[in-house]
Amino acid sequence: MTLQPGVLASVPPAARYLTFSLNPRTNPRRALSALATLADGERCVVGIGESVLRTLGKHIEGMRPFPSYSGKGFEVPSTPAALWCWLRGQDRGDLLHQGRAIEAALDPAFYLEDVIDAFHHGSGRDLTGYEDGTENPRGRKAVSAAAVSGMGAGLDGSSFVAVQEWVHDFDSFQSMSATDQDNSIGRRRRDNVELARAPASAHVKRTAQESFDPEAFVLRRSMPWTDGDRAGLVFVAFGKSLDAFEAQLRRMVGEEDGIADALFRFTRPVSGSYFWCPPVRRRRIDLGRIV
Ligand code: HEM
Repeated sequence: MTLQPGVLASVPPAARYLTFSLNPRTNPRRALSALATLADGERCVVGIGESVLRTLGKHIEGMRPFPSYSGKGFEVPSTPAALWCWLRGQDRGDLLHQGRAIEAALDPAFYLEDVIDAFHHGSGRDLTGYEDGTENPRGRKAVSAAAVSGMGAGLDGSSFVAVQEWVHDFDSFQSMSATDQDNSIGRRRRDNVELARAPASAHVKRTAQESFDPEAFVLRRSMPWTDGDRAGLVFVAFGKSLDAFEAQLRRMVGEEDGIADALFRFTRPVSGSYFWCPPVRRRRIDLGRIV
């Protein structure tokens, strides 16, 4: 079983996210086969949406629509999409051309709906300055958090991914005292030390992976993005199922105890989608299960 290598690799210096919708008048099979010749799972991680699976008459156990929530003063939208490509590299020019080749290969079955340019910031920080990814599982634990196993060829080594674009409100964030900022994350920005007495609304209190029953481990590969004067985080979490992410999100929005994550004071999600990420075989994504 082989996960797409880009899932396990560390976050690249530069990335481009392409999100596609489906042209209902065409059969996506040929386009997906063309994509499989271009996508190695490392420079291009691929996720397939439920509408494509349905069009192909295929069901992947565990795949479902992204949930939406309305909290006190915030929305968590669900914005399903047909296909997601995470282009990973060093050079934004190369990513642009790689993206154009993929777009051409998918034409006319898929329409390019959205493009987000993302980048590595500092030592792997969110644009608020906090280190992101500290509590990610590593090594074998990362594989067991992210990879489907024991389900047979074509499914083993696949993964599910939750993707959300978050837009930061830097004025709100900067109007908070440094203590409030640290309390909203639950870690000290200066040295990344976890705060022993963080409030229940602190982000790392809401999402502490060991505190769930069963434990809710995910492999986060989020990246900062910017476009003109807007900026934020593309939150990306891979999992062997979508259950762990969903348990965390429910707690963040306050579904369990009415306490919302303090992150919502200065950032908000504007998209939310789930995709199934096929495994790789011979350095190409393996669509044997669905095409
Ligand atoms: C703009 C949105 C977000 C930002 C800026 C953000 C930032 C952070 C930061 C700074 C940490 C602490 C360091 C670390 O362990 O990585 C963290 C931890 C974490 N975040 Fe987020 N996060 C965001 C959204 C989310 C969402 C939507 C989820 C899941 C629903 C999530 C799940 C987690 C998890 C599981 C941890 C580790 C908790 C632990 O086990 O200690 N985050 N996040």
